[in-house]
Amino acid sequence: MSTTTAVAADSAPTLATTPVRVLPHPELCPEGLAFDARPGRKLVDELLNHGIAIEHACEKVCACATCHVHLRGGAEHVKPADEEEEDQLDEAWGLDAQSRLACCVRVPRAQQGAGALVVELPRYTKNHARE
Ligand code: FES
Repeated sequence: MSTTTAVAADSAPTLATTPVRVLPHPELCPEGLAFDARPGRKLVDELLNHGIAIEHACEKVCACATCHVHLRGGAEHVKPADEEEEDQLDEAWGLDAQSRLACCVRVPRAQQGAGALVVELPRYTKNHARE
């Protein structure tokens, strides 16, 4: 007698990690960086865990705007900003249409064939701009 194991049919295949590409930044990441992030984690934590010393003055509770980033690719897979994040973003240096707060962005689940989440770190933070 033989046994078989049923394999559940999957719809769109998802990956265990999501590729993230950080564009070069003169101080924080001069060469740029690529890494695999865990879906569901805060983007700010994944950046910090991979050696990028992004500011996070309010300890990642959407109250300071120092973790401001620009999502230059893959933003369509990220949950949109809520009102609280939008209000804080108004305080960010160098705000544009692709601005997000890294403590509010959850790494999306990657789909097969989708590109990386591309992150640009602003030249300055709100704190530096005041100095
Ligand atoms: S760490 Fe303060 S708003 Fe993100």
